[in-house]
Formats: sequence, C-alpha cells, structure tokens
Amino acid sequence: MITQTELLTKKGEHIQQMFGSIARVYDLLNTLLSFNFDKIWRRFAVKVSNITPDAKVLDVCTGTGDLAIAYSKVLNSSGKVIGSDFCHEMVKLADHKFRKKNLSGKIEVLGADTLHLPFHDNYFQVSAVAFGIRNVSDLKAGIAEMVRITAPGGRVVILEFSQPTNPLFKAIYYFYFKKILPLIGKLISRSKYNAYSYLPSSVLNFPDRYGLKILMEYCMLEDVKIYTRTLGIVTVHIGKKPGN
Ligand SMILES: C[S@@+](CC[C@H](N)C(=O)[O-])C[C@H]1O[C@@H](n2cnc3c(N)ncnc32)[C@H](O)[C@@H]1O
Repeated sequence: MITQTELLTKKGEHIQQMFGSIARVYDLLNTLLSFNFDKIWRRFAVKVSNITPDAKVLDVCTGTGDLAIAYSKVLNSSGKVIGSDFCHEMVKLADHKFRKKNLSGKIEVLGADTLHLPFHDNYFQVSAVAFGIRNVSDLKAGIAEMVRITAPGGRVVILEFSQPTNPLFKAIYYFYFKKILPLIGKLISRSKYNAYSYLPSSVLNFPDRYGLKILMEYCMLEDVKIYTRTLGIVTVHIGKKPGN
C-alpha cells in the first residue's frame, strides 16, 4: 500500500497506479468536484494560447484528453493535437473518447512519460498541460522537456490549481478543498490510494504562481504571463520560447 507521504514524492510508478485507480471515474469527479468549472478553465487556457488554426499542439499528462479536445476545436484540418500520458488506463479512455467524438483524424493519443517525450526538438507550436505537471516527479525537468519540443517563438502553457488570494474566500475554499472534496472523492472513486486527499496536499506543496513563473523563466521561457481564474483557484501560465 502506498502512503500519502510516498505519493507526495511523486515516484512515477506510484503516480501511474494512483491515476490508474481513478481513471474510470476521473471525468465524473472532475465535473462534480469543480462544479463543471474545469471545462471553462481548459477553454480559457486554449483561448489565451492564441494559436493559429494549423498549429501542432502537444497536450502532456493528457489524462482522459479534455485539454486536447479543447485545442482540437480551434484547429482546422491542417492542425493536429497529440495527447500523451504514461498511465495506460487514462490513455485507453482518451483514445475511446476521441473515437466516440469522431476526432481520431485530428487528435492522437500515445503513452509517454512527460520527462522523456518521444519527439524531436522544436516540433510543436504549443506544448500544454492541465492539472498534470504538479504530478511529475521532477517539475523543472518536466517543464524543460516541454520547452525542448516547442518551436522557437512557440508557447508553453500550464493550467494548474493555485492558491486563492482573498483570505475569506481562501478559508471557505480550503475547507471544501481539504475536507469535503477528499471525502466525496473517496466515496465515489473507492481508490485505495486516497487520490483525492493527495490532490489538495500536492497543490499545497506546489510552487505558488510567482514561484512557477520563476521556474519557467529558469527553463528559458520569456515573457511569462500569469492569468488567475475563479478567485485564484486556478492559474494559467504562458511562456514564449525565445526565437522567431
Ligand atoms: C490530474 S490528471 C490531468 C488530466 C488532464 N490533463 C486534465 O486536464 O484533466 C494528471 C495526469 O498526469 C499524468 N502524469 C503524471 N505524471 C506523468 C508523467 N511523468 N508522464 C506522463 N503523464 C503523467 C497522470 O497519469 C494523469 O493522467
């Protein structure tokens, strides 16, 4: 049995097992626990990515593929999205979803570790991640890998949970996030890894929005912009790879 402390070290195989254990209820719980805001947040991340309709986009840690789908909606037939994830159960569900929505021509899914992406340098106009980079064992190396496969002048986009700024709202939200959400998550997912207790703990252990900006700059991104949404529950960071 993997403990919460072990999970927070984010060893790849533990993270894979944990997400594998909740894959089948992942979408349902996203909708339920975020009051459907998750879709709005992903659409916002796509909007501010400002991509051309023929772009090649990589969505790492794609899970069940919802960010990849949101990108596919702004692309024309020359554009392409690839979703990658190292959790077999998630990849299977994403593939099934893309086929069901007749998106197979526009989106592909593949099993890959974000720390070792099977693409050559400078390949994509945008590399993006939603609620995923927090789970990668080496955050800096994960961002650096996203930067590597992005073309000069392209963008690296990170949508992630963050900490609300208003103290009153923060207190109410944290009560929900730390106490209620893990309970509902546990009841519905029945995950033996307590994935929905890991969620708030991993968010609280993640760099704040300014820390993440500094890390992105350290990974050679420039002009890093920060967009906070829904009173700071989530933040989108976008950085430009130098060149062009
Ligand atoms: C919280 S889910 C996010 C899924 C999706 N991006 C979304 O917007 O809902 C995190 C995903 O990251 C994946 N993941 C975590 N670490 C990874 C790594 N090193 N390489 C590839 N995928 C990883 C997990 O398997 C999981 O599917």
